[in-house]
Amino acid sequence: MDILKKIEMFREEEAKLRWEGTFGEYLEIVKEQPWVAQSAHSRVYNMIRDAGIEDDKGKKSYSFFSPQLFGLEEALERLVEEYFHPAAKRLDVRKRILLLMGPVSGGKSTLVTMLKRGLEAYSLTDRGAIFGIKGCPMHEDPLHLIPQNLRGEFYDEYGIRIEGNLSPLNMMRLEKEYGGRLEDVLVERVFFSEDKRVGIGTFSPSDPKSQDIADLTGSIDFSTIAEFGSESDPRAYRFDGELNKANRGMMEFQEMLKCDEKFLWHLLSLTQEGNFKAGRFALISADELIVAHTNETEYRSFISNKKNEALHSRIIVMPIPYNLKVTQEEKIYEKMIQESDVSDVHIAPHTLKVAAMFSILTRLKEPKKGDIDLVKKMRLYDGKNVEGYNSADVDELKKEYQDEGMSGIDPRYVINRISSTIIRKEIPSLNALDVLRSLKEGLDQHPSITNELRERYLNFISLARKEYDDIAKKEVQKAFVYSYEESAKTLMENYLDNVEAYCNKAKMRDQLTGEEINPDEKLMRSIEEQIGISENAKKAFREEILIRISAYARKGKRFDYNSHDRLREAIQKKLFADLKDVVKITTSSKTPDEQQLKKVNEVVARLIDEHGYNSTSANDLLRYVGSLLNR
Ligand SMILES: Nc1ncnc2c1ncn2[C@@H]1O[C@H](COP(=O)(O)OP(=O)(O)OP(=O)(O)O)[C@@H](O)[C@H]1O
Ligand SMILES: [Mg+2]
Repeated sequence: MDILKKIEMFREEEAKLRWEGTFGEYLEIVKEQPWVAQSAHSRVYNMIRDAGIEDDKGKKSYSFFSPQLFGLEEALERLVEEYFHPAAKRLDVRKRILLLMGPVSGGKSTLVTMLKRGLEAYSLTDRGAIFGIKGCPMHEDPLHLIPQNLRGEFYDEYGIRIEGNLSPLNMMRLEKEYGGRLEDVLVERVFFSEDKRVGIGTFSPSDPKSQDIADLTGSIDFSTIAEFGSESDPRAYRFDGELNKANRGMMEFQEMLKCDEKFLWHLLSLTQEGNFKAGRFALISADELIVAHTNETEYRSFISNKKNEALHSRIIVMPIPYNLKVTQEEKIYEKMIQESDVSDVHIAPHTLKVAAMFSILTRLKEPKKGDIDLVKKMRLYDGKNVEGYNSADVDELKKEYQDEGMSGIDPRYVINRISSTIIRKEIPSLNALDVLRSLKEGLDQHPSITNELRERYLNFISLARKEYDDIAKKEVQKAFVYSYEESAKTLMENYLDNVEAYCNKAKMRDQLTGEEINPDEKLMRSIEEQIGISENAKKAFREEILIRISAYARKGKRFDYNSHDRLREAIQKKLFADLKDVVKITTSSKTPDEQQLKKVNEVVARLIDEHGYNSTSANDLLRYVGSLLNR
């Protein structure tokens, strides 16, 4: 019932937005809201801009794309700032076909679909409103009615430049239906809809022998020739090709480079001159964004063919590489799983992260400089702290290769492996080891990878596995401490008190007896040793920490557990080292005693309540960590 009500409400909303009036009345709207007359490219750009652009230290992110595209900020910024923005300002790039080039399932179609759905929704808003000549199959821009010789004056008065000529069909209708009185021509508001073939088109090449150019530019309607008397009467022509229907909006050209040349020639003139030829008529003006997509191999073979030069120079290529950030890749998988039928299966924490690590590793290129390895590079790209490197190093790394992210494992492959694991095993819960195993099996069956590449990828699986081992151990150890943060903090404060006394050559006071005592050298060393600080280096390390604390104090900031990466690491490791034996015995005992059993149950409960596990995955985790610690 509710849904029916909503449908009705939606219909009413739409009815409210409808508008129809004469060209004269339309001009009044144009005067008040000049943006209704903007070009297709400008509308696309404004749609993206109106959704909101966030600027983070000069790096832009677009709210328009962020709900569905992850980790492509740089590519999107380039796309918007080097294509849509200048195209909106009527710069020359608008006359080029936009060709998105990227590896398989890297989000190209997703991007195009977002633009299409976005335009449909935008056309329902005030800022995105569009008007067309009523009854025109191409919803022609009403301003085309204004004769060439008056367009200068129109510009002076309205500040709007008119491009394009009245189409042969509307020219005839103006004479026959309106007796030449253009102010009476009816104009209506247009709502984009791909389903209704208004303003959004898709052209997909089929067998070149059977495909007809009519799919692109429309065709003669033989049934009406008798009525209109001649094939060259525009009324006897059906302007229903994709190029016609996409006028004012956008057309997606699928597999453009696989397409027969004859189709591409139409695009040449459309993009360059803003018009195309259909039937026996004068050129038809059209204003639309043309987006095509392709992969790198196809593109290379296209440009290597001399015959394609003319077309090539009319194409703007925008690379859409794979995402290279682990956290963003996780989001991609989450989204794809959400959209699938297996969305209700329990996926243990860190499972998708580990799969993402593997994918990202396959996409990264070996760093050229320094001693940085791929795993560190992966962390840096993901915005994580890696000791000895900063954000300038990240920029530096990115500059090493222009074409990073154009190859590697694609998200669809990972999702396929995940779903096949879920379906095959009918397991109620999926963990990182299941996924790594499945990815590995998949590589063995993968027909299209070389042995060398397989070796490389298998190595990445073991790297991801190693990362997982660390994560798993930490997770369990954390769950063993009643309140991990609390214990870490206490231990750190204790350490700092000792360090302070040590550096000031002061005594400390025993909490219980009040006696004066020396700083606890054993405690300090047991922490420092965790991160490999030698006896000789301890003094410098302790002094450095004190300096850091006073620098913090000067700025009025509190030095806390997270202020010093290495100290935090040392504290963490110390806590875990203390725990190790307890964890080891408890998790791996085949016949746990009562107390061990109680502890295990407590830990399982904590993993479930606080860390997102279910009982299967929590028990799996404990068993696994137990085996790790016993190695
Ligand atoms: N960076 C990304 N952000 C969000 N989703 C992504 C990203 N990359 C890929 N995907 C997801 O992967 C799947 C495949 O993407 P899509 O179909 O858009 O790729 P494509 O580049 O068109 O691939 P193909 O070349 O095979 O046509 C989709 O479900 C998409 O949502
Ligand atoms: Mg695609």
